[in-house]
Amino acid sequence: MSQGIISAAYLIAAVLFIFSLAGLSKQETAKQGNICGVAGMAIALIATILKPETLGMGWILVAMITGGGIGVYLARRVEMTEMPELVAVLHSFVGLAAVLVGFNSFIDLHPETVGSVSDAIKQISHSGAEYNIHLVEVYLGIFIGAVTFTGSIVAFGKLRGVINSKALMLPHRHKLNLLALVLSTGLLIHFVGSHASITTLVIMAVIAGIFGWHLVASIGGADMPVVVSMLNSYSGWAAAAAGFMLSNDLLIIVGALVGSSGAILSYIMCKAMNRSFVSVIAGGFGTDVQQSSSDEEQGEHRETSADDVADMLKNSRSVIITPGYGMAVAQAQYPVAEITQKLRDKGIKVRFGIHPVAGRLPGHMNVLLAEAKVPYDIVLEMDEINDDFSDTDTVLVIGANDTVNPAALDDPNSPIAGMPVLEVWNAENVVVFKRSMNTGYAGVQNPLFFKENTQMLFGDAKASVENILRAL
Ligand code: TAP
Repeated sequence: MSQGIISAAYLIAAVLFIFSLAGLSKQETAKQGNICGVAGMAIALIATILKPETLGMGWILVAMITGGGIGVYLARRVEMTEMPELVAVLHSFVGLAAVLVGFNSFIDLHPETVGSVSDAIKQISHSGAEYNIHLVEVYLGIFIGAVTFTGSIVAFGKLRGVINSKALMLPHRHKLNLLALVLSTGLLIHFVGSHASITTLVIMAVIAGIFGWHLVASIGGADMPVVVSMLNSYSGWAAAAAGFMLSNDLLIIVGALVGSSGAILSYIMCKAMNRSFVSVIAGGFGTDVQQSSSDEEQGEHRETSADDVADMLKNSRSVIITPGYGMAVAQAQYPVAEITQKLRDKGIKVRFGIHPVAGRLPGHMNVLLAEAKVPYDIVLEMDEINDDFSDTDTVLVIGANDTVNPAALDDPNSPIAGMPVLEVWNAENVVVFKRSMNTGYAGVQNPLFFKENTQMLFGDAKASVENILRAL
């Protein structure tokens, strides 16, 4: 394939990726966005494979079939609630790939480092601006890749529950982070200025790996969603760095798109959770508050039954449903959609209030409700609906906990202090669907459960909603 055709294919792929991002930003256009992304990636892969300088077609096919097979298997098997874990693992692969590409680029330029005599006689210029720029690309690519690799593995461990999800609070942790950055900068100057050796790269990769591990380990609780999208951004920059090393323009463009969109998403999430962007990405900077909230119960709670909730709903004029992670676990979205339809048929106003970090991934609740064919126009964002709770007869909190916790507003020492929440307690009646008095993701008890106007409906959310449906 000629270079002109390859450049044109890369341009088309880049435009398709931009359309893909634009499409994915709205539910109505998400499917088209996805199709554009798949088409862009297919064009990019075909053009790259057919490049005249591409060698080792057999190996490429083996890698593609193996990788594609694993991808299809995982995508079919993964539960929606496990998506953030899967995404974290995928980010770690991008990070590792950038590290490997970095070492490969260096060895390509310095074959003597691996003792390859035949390659060593290649005429490679080891001086000049272009050479130094290449060294900086290699160094930064390996640095970002190593941070992304270990950070993503820690994020995976925390989301999976194999590593404690609480923030690791090492003494002098910010000084340790700073030390890692200063050492890495010093090594960069040494690497480019006087001695471009593979040993320097290995030492830096180890430091960067420890830095990435510590950075994510010091973030915990409600800040974890931001970490996943931040790692998404890092993996984009790692890919862009690999693009520079491989002189692949499309990889640079795609990396920059992923890097900047991940950073923008993290910023939006930080705003939604009233967190400082810098504090989250710098590993919980400024979170040294003494934590007073615990998972102990804070008074008496009242229980209710499905029949009583059905009566309460029949006598309501206006109902708001605030779903959370438990609705996803129970797969209760289908009976929830049926109840919604039934109540609307009776002339009752039903709407949904969606917290930006409800569930375990951005847009989690929106995806589930769309899957169950709940009309988009009754699914409202937290900011759009928060003032309406005081005019609402009944709120059904289905498997949500942290996102409806008043301690976020009332208790400055709570781990979720400052996070805007759905103010469901302002409604006349609140019914909380969950299986026990256990805490949510952030591990703090919820004073909502002990309020006068709150009743608990214990049991699996799907079974509870189905019981109400029958009673209606
Ligand atoms: P959570 O605070 O995680 O609470 C979910 C509740 O669902 C739990 O208290 C649990 O109580 C209940 N539950 C679990 N399985 C259930 C079932 N089968 N039936 C009924 N109830 C069930 O949920 P949330 O309000 O959606 O908040 C999300 C949390 O996750 C936030 O802290 C957020 O920061 C964090 N997070 C979010 C994301 C994104 S991007 N959305 C990513 C990672 C983390 P029982 O055990 O008593 O049933």
